[in-house]
Amino acid sequence: MKITNLKLKNYRNCENIELNFNNYKNIIIGKNAQGKTNILESIYFLSCLKSMRTSKISDLIEFGKDNMNICALLEKNSTEIQLNYYIDETGKKTFKINGVKSTIKDFRGILKTVIFSNEDLLLLRGTPENRRNWLDNAIFQIYPLYEDRLNKYEKLRIQKNNLLKSDKFDYGLMDVYNEQMSITGANIVFLRNKYLNEISNIAKIKHLEISNDETLNIYYKTTFPINDNIEQICENYKQALKDNYDEEIRRGQSLIGPHRDDVIFLTNDKDATKFASQGQQRTVVLALKSAELNIIKEKTDISPILLLDDVLAELDDLRQNYLLNSIDKDTQTIITSVDTLLFSKEFLNDISLFKIKNGSLEI
Ligand SMILES: Nc1ncnc2c1ncn2[C@@H]1O[C@H](COP(=O)(O)OP(=O)(O)OP(=O)(O)O)[C@@H](O)[C@H]1O
Ligand SMILES: [Mg+2]
Repeated sequence: MKITNLKLKNYRNCENIELNFNNYKNIIIGKNAQGKTNILESIYFLSCLKSMRTSKISDLIEFGKDNMNICALLEKNSTEIQLNYYIDETGKKTFKINGVKSTIKDFRGILKTVIFSNEDLLLLRGTPENRRNWLDNAIFQIYPLYEDRLNKYEKLRIQKNNLLKSDKFDYGLMDVYNEQMSITGANIVFLRNKYLNEISNIAKIKHLEISNDETLNIYYKTTFPINDNIEQICENYKQALKDNYDEEIRRGQSLIGPHRDDVIFLTNDKDATKFASQGQQRTVVLALKSAELNIIKEKTDISPILLLDDVLAELDDLRQNYLLNSIDKDTQTIITSVDTLLFSKEFLNDISLFKIKNGSLEI
C-alpha cells in the first residue's frame, strides 16, 4: 500500500502542511526540532491510533490550539481510500473513511505501517513490559481479535489482585479467577509463543545479513513450562497456579501468567539487553522490524508502509548499506534524516525529498 497525500492541521508543530508522496522512496530532511518525527508520528498514529511517543492524545494538538486534523489519501489494492481523523474544540474525536463516519475498530488497521523510531530501542533497553507491549502490538496487527483476549485477561488480573489484597479472602472466588485466567492466559501465551517462533526465524536471517556475522536468538520466557500445544499450556498453567496458590496469597500478588513474561534476545549467545553495543541493539530492532513487515505482508497480503526515523544513526556504513538496499521496491518507505549525506547515490535515485523547517515545507 501507499500513502499518496498527507495533510496535517494543528498537529504538534505542523500547523498546516501538505505532503504529496509520489514515490515509493521518500526522505524528509531538516535540522533538529523542525517536525520530521512529528510527520512520521502522524502517519503511524493514523494507522493504529496510538503514538510511539505519548499515551496522551492531547499532546498531539499544537500548543495553544483546541482542534487537530490528520487527513491522508491511500492507495490500497488499486483503490483510493481517504482517512480523516479530527478532534474538535470540545475534544470530540471523529473518524471518517472516504467521508463517512466510522468506528475506531473499523478505522484502525486500514493503514498498515511498521515504524522504527528511537522509542523502539526500549525493546532492548527497557523493561519486560516494553517487550510484552511490542509483542502484543505486533500480534494485534495480524490477529485483531487478540486485543479482546488481552483486555479480558487484564480485567481478570486486576480482579484477582484486588481479591488478593482484600481483607475478606474468598477461596471460591480465587478458584474461579484462576480457572478463567488459565484459559484466557493460555491463549495469550500460545499466540505469543507462536508469533515469536515465526518472527525469530525471519529476524535471525535478517540480523545475520545486516550485521554480516552476528547471530540472534529469541526466546519467550514464561512463568511455567510451555510447548506448542495449547491444551498442554493450559494444563501447565493450572498446575503452576496450584503450586503457587499459598505464595500468591502470602505475597498478595498474582505471580503466574503472561503478565509476568518476557522476551529474551541473545546476540552471539549473550543477553543483548546487557551486553550488546548501541549499534548492535539497533541492528536487533531493525532485524525485528524487517521481519515484522514480512509477516504482515505474508498474512494480510498488504505491504505496510515502512517509517524509519533517523535510522542510520549509530550504524556503521556496512549496516547502513545493507539496510537501505534490503528495502523492497514495492514497500513505500518514508525516512527522516538531518541531511542526505549518509545515503548512497544509488539510494537517492528516484526518491522524493522533502525539506522541513518549523513544521512547514521549505521550497
Ligand atoms: N503539541 C505540540 N505543539 C507544538 N509543538 C510541539 C508539540 N509537540 C512537540 N512540539 C515541537 O515540535 C518540534 C519538532 O519535533 P520533532 O520531534 O518532529 O523534531 P525533529 O525534526 O524530528 O528533530 P530531530 O532531528 O531532533 O529528531 C519540537 O521542537 C517540539 O517541541
Ligand atoms: Mg526526530
